Amino acid sequence: MFMNFRRIRKCQCVQLVTTCFVLSVVMVCWEQLDNSVVSHVKSYSYRYLVNSYNFLNKSFVITRQSADGLGGYRYLINHKDKCAGRDMLLLLFVKTSPENVERRQSIRSTWGNETYVSRELGADVRVVFVLGVHRDCQRRESTQEALLEEDRQYSDLVQQDFADTFHNLTVKLLLQFQWAHTYCRHARFLMSADDDVFVHMPNLVGYLQEVDRRGAQGFWVGRVHRGAPPIRRKDSKYYVPYEMYRWSSYPDYTAGAGYVVSGDVASKIYRASLTINSTLYIDDVFMGICANAMGVSPQEHPFFSGEGKAPYHPCIYDKMMTSHGHVSDIHDLWREATSLEVQNISRGLLRRLYCTAVRVALLCKPYYVDTYSCKSAFL
Ligand SMILES: *[C@@H]1O[C@H](CO)[C@@H](O)[C@H](O)[C@H]1NC(C)=O
Ligand SMILES: *[C@@H]1O[C@H](CO)[C@@H](O)[C@H](O)[C@H]1NC(C)=O
Ligand SMILES: *[C@@H]1O[C@H](CO)[C@@H](O)[C@H](O)[C@H]1NC(C)=O
Ligand SMILES: *[C@@H]1O[C@H](CO)[C@@H](O)[C@H](O)[C@H]1NC(C)=O
Ligand SMILES: *[C@@H]1O[C@H](CO)[C@@H](O)[C@H](O)[C@H]1NC(C)=O
Repeated sequence: MFMNFRRIRKCQCVQLVTTCFVLSVVMVCWEQLDNSVVSHVKSYSYRYLVNSYNFLNKSFVITRQSADGLGGYRYLINHKDKCAGRDMLLLLFVKTSPENVERRQSIRSTWGNETYVSRELGADVRVVFVLGVHRDCQRRESTQEALLEEDRQYSDLVQQDFADTFHNLTVKLLLQFQWAHTYCRHARFLMSADDDVFVHMPNLVGYLQEVDRRGAQGFWVGRVHRGAPPIRRKDSKYYVPYEMYRWSSYPDYTAGAGYVVSGDVASKIYRASLTINSTLYIDDVFMGICANAMGVSPQEHPFFSGEGKAPYHPCIYDKMMTSHGHVSDIHDLWREATSLEVQNISRGLLRRLYCTAVRVALLCKPYYVDTYSCKSAFL
């Protein structure tokens, strides 16, 4: 009995080694043909065979002095008292750019309306727009005046003196965690969202209140990327050179479009960011590296979206947390997604069955670009 068992184990071991060998040969030979399929296979094998990113700590940790040089730009607009108030549920950062004034206006009058959230949902949520200075030096002065004027009216901008570009997104991430640490340590949750993301505030607040009741420690939720490969095509926006990140997959991280962490995780990320090399400009991956160094891992929520836009339907609104890529439709979406019809849609067995059927029809199409996965249709 015992012998047998050992023999089986040995057999499996040989099998595993052979598989690994064949896989590695395939990988090496296909290096030239490093298209997306191969890099995904590689990164997935990496993620699920190695399944540990301990080495990241060593190669990304730098001294505090060197880290100081990378973030910590001077504040041009700030609101140190924005977070005053005892019982704060959520500090919500919206990553915006100087010229996106219309997006900010739409957010203020829809899901980012603090008065609405406090009156209708009974929760204390603060929305802060974070940005740098206009990327174009020539337009910097005039946009800056407009920004100051906008801020006089709404008092919700926080701006630092760095050029607001895609490759400075990690600087913006450092700004968020630094600001939260300095002025808003008591918020129970921190969220970071793009300015073209729609947040279903009633659903989100309800969900976070429930998580909070259970005691949220080590909480980090969003659309999780597991075993995502660095993009090596030079023409891609997300291109990352080998010198910046030499392994074949990133540690687990949540899509930067919208994710939430609990207060304790926010402070861990902040502490990690003080000694981690932040030249890696993909901000959500950088956040993943910080979290990895602190032993925090993300959890998937089926109704947080990454890149995609959710289908328009009350049965989707009923569950939706975030959806990406909404600009011109944000007012209509807000009105429809928070209507009374939606609040009633899943009451009763028949209606629940109807909604499940609708969600299957909407989310489980073979050619559907993934916002929410097919399996979330059944939740
Ligand atoms: C290194 O990373 C691991 C996770 O991969 C983490 O659990 C550990 O705490 C990190 N160590 C240090 C010294 O940061
Ligand atoms: C925010 O919501 C309140 C209460 O629902 C409403 O009175 C106010 O007009 C809204 N603000 C904006 C900018 O739409
Ligand atoms: C980031 O901002 C700094 C400060 O304005 C600027 O010098 C630098 O060129 C920016 N980096 C990128 C990649 O845009
Ligand atoms: C941070 O990483 C970059 C490569 O991405 C490297 O050139 C730089 O020397 C590193 N900084 C420190 C202080 O190690
Ligand atoms: C929603 O349900 C409530 C009570 O179940 C009912 O009073 C109300 O009329 C319903 N509203 C709509 C728009 O169906």
